Amino acid sequence: MSKSLVQQQFGANAANYVVSSVHAKGASLQRLVDVVAPQPDWVMLDVATGGGHTALAFAPHVARAIASDLTEEMLDQVRKQVADKGIKNVETQRADAEDLPFADGIFDLVTCRIAPHHFPDIAKFVSEVHRVLKPGGVFALVDNVAPDVATTPGFTELELDEAAETYNNFEKIRDPSHGRAWQVGEWGKCITDAGFEIAHTEFLPKKMNFATWCKNMSVPGDRVPGLEAMLREAAPAFAAYIQPEDGEDGLGFTIIELMAVARKH
Ligand SMILES: C[S@@+](CC[C@H](N)C(=O)[O-])C[C@H]1O[C@@H](n2cnc3c(N)ncnc32)[C@H](O)[C@@H]1O
Repeated sequence: MSKSLVQQQFGANAANYVVSSVHAKGASLQRLVDVVAPQPDWVMLDVATGGGHTALAFAPHVARAIASDLTEEMLDQVRKQVADKGIKNVETQRADAEDLPFADGIFDLVTCRIAPHHFPDIAKFVSEVHRVLKPGGVFALVDNVAPDVATTPGFTELELDEAAETYNNFEKIRDPSHGRAWQVGEWGKCITDAGFEIAHTEFLPKKMNFATWCKNMSVPGDRVPGLEAMLREAAPAFAAYIQPEDGEDGLGFTIIELMAVARKH
């Protein structure tokens, strides 16, 4: 069910994601390239490529990149950019993150940026990444995280768990294909349990414009006031995480991305 919702939501809004500034120009894109330091002989897989931004950012630095996604309309957008820009080393492949259609141990690098919160079984995805990587291969992850003590100190565990649930509800009202953004602690345990050694982590807060965030997912007008009220009336722990603020462009808020770079044992 949620996978067909993903394809509906992203199929209908594919073009928005190519130009979305958070996806096309977000700080985590170049930062990920810098931290990973890709090598010219590497073959990489980008899982849930969306508008292809991560695959296209790495492509100049590697031998070959496969941009994969569940949603065919997203891959159409990637193919269009690859053709328009004359890029020779990026291919597309339809792939479910939880059941990657690739042999064991063939990639030097697997990237996945701002997408696992859509996957119904994130642990299965991480084990698939581990399977398709060569020994010593690199898993480079960026995803929005829900509040916990790592991102939002100063609150009780109960307050933070409630804030995490509110954050996930906020996302799900805007986009019914949103599954669950994990807390930082959940990511650390899952990556380590799958057989990786974590080499680098950092947080990248990103400022969001409320109106653009709604527009990118074509949120029906009758849902907008409720979402706005969730920001304006946020309880203290959720407010400390989401930081609602009125600026020149209207209402804004902050989401924190976790970047984690890990190596397969
Ligand atoms: C926000 S976009 C990804 C953004 C992109 N990675 C970037 O760096 O700009 C989320 C993508 O996840 C894809 N997706 C969601 N569930 C998936 C799954 N189970 N397997 C593969 N792709 C999936 C959607 O089709 C959508 O294109």
